[in-house]
Amino acid sequence: MNNIIVMGMPAAGKGTVCAALAKEFGFAHLSTGEVLRAEQAAGTKLGLMAKRLIEAGNFMPDHIMIPLVKEVVVKSTNTVGTLFDGFPRTKEQAKQLHVFLYQRKQPISAVIFLDVSKKVAVERLLKRAQTEGRADDTEEVISNRWGHYNSKTMPVVSYFSKLGMIKPVPADGTPEEVYEQVRGFVKEMLNVVAE
Ligand code: AP5
Ligand code: MG
Repeated sequence: MNNIIVMGMPAAGKGTVCAALAKEFGFAHLSTGEVLRAEQAAGTKLGLMAKRLIEAGNFMPDHIMIPLVKEVVVKSTNTVGTLFDGFPRTKEQAKQLHVFLYQRKQPISAVIFLDVSKKVAVERLLKRAQTEGRADDTEEVISNRWGHYNSKTMPVVSYFSKLGMIKPVPADGTPEEVYEQVRGFVKEMLNVVAE
């Protein structure tokens, strides 16, 4: 099992990169944002709570997110590994996931950090607001998401960085350029002979 965490600020390209990796290599793709949006669409109690918090650009509490992710991991079998997209987002989530996967003898293989500039990220989000109409892609909510990212998620980057687990990838380029770099790294990690 190769568990890979994909990190980066909103619109760094986590979802785009993970979808391509899942397709090419057969990873399970666990996007906590997508899980919450699906709950929202299904109108569950969790979904209602998620709607309120996501639309304001705030995080869901750790005591809800951590068991939710553990449950998905336990149920996920028969894949080459899992891509964690949007989780962990707080230091508590990071520590708990780290220990949980270690105890399951499926430790984290790598943490890919998609390094995008704020200017490029905002442009992508405002563009998506026009095409997809995601409720949290307004300028005001983007600014709040960004604030939480800086205060709560950047410490997670430092946490993995101190452990020597971070693989930074420049992410201002086109989807193809970004993916090519990530792909090369993952191929090496999986010991697949590069084409
Ligand atoms: P989540 O859905 O994870 O949102 P996010 O982290 O803000 O990131 P995005 O999905 O907007 O961006 P991305 O990096 O995936 O980029 P993407 O590939 O989509 O979370 C949403 C909310 O859920 C959170 O704010 C929080 O409230 C809650 N939540 C989720 N997880 C949580 C957790 N663990 N704990 C607590 N709360 C949690 O690309 C963005 C756009 O850019 C797309 O339109 C895409 O087509 C385009 N694009 C991508 N790459 C490129 C490229 N290289 N060039 C040009 N365009 C590109
Ligand atoms: Mg995403």
